[in-house]
Amino acid sequence: MNECTEFLRIALSKGRILEETVELLEGSGIKCQQVKGNGRKLIYTDEKQGVSFILGKPMDIPTYVEYGAADLGVVGKDVLMETEGEYYELLDLNIGYCKLVVAGEKDKTERDYRTIASKYPKLTEKYFESMGRQTNIVKLNGSVELAPLTNLADSIVDLVSSGQTLRENNLVELEKITDITTRLIANKGSYQLKQARIVSLVENMQGSI
Ligand code: PRP
Repeated sequence: MNECTEFLRIALSKGRILEETVELLEGSGIKCQQVKGNGRKLIYTDEKQGVSFILGKPMDIPTYVEYGAADLGVVGKDVLMETEGEYYELLDLNIGYCKLVVAGEKDKTERDYRTIASKYPKLTEKYFESMGRQTNIVKLNGSVELAPLTNLADSIVDLVSSGQTLRENNLVELEKITDITTRLIANKGSYQLKQARIVSLVENMQGSI
């Protein structure tokens, strides 16, 4: 195998979607045994398959792909909407189903959207702007549901999957912004240089979705 043109570097999002991603890749003929353990290693190279797996934080996956540190990336549409980078979005992988919502305290009688906390400040700003509503946005890095409970913000914009986090914190969905799934993205240069290999992987993935 010619490593320069054919070796594939795939950036995977650590966390919730990793297990489903690995299942899908395995169903598409890419063995991911090394990634499955609970190790702390961040990059695995499989010479035999001509693949390396880069394990990054979801918000950073588009950066690895855009700058060509990875050829391909697997990441949620929420992250792509927030980061808006230069890459090709190749495929909706139909995994990691969740939705992006505006949520607030269940027992509040008057709704207030003056201050919104979110991990997605750009996306939040765009959404409220498109609705013609003025807001202040507070950027948080996680556990966003804490913001209304501590009076840091009136409401939040965040992902909901099972709904458990909202329920256990006495919050409710107020507005759905959009449904979210996981996507496959490609570096633009890699897509030209390694097209045959990438297209074949995409076809295999389509077959196994
Ligand atoms: C996500 C999301 C919500 C939660 C929703 O956070 O931001 O907080 O999951 O899931 P649920 O509807 O199934 O309860 P995550 O657990 O990834 O961690 P974070 O809050 O640190 O971002």
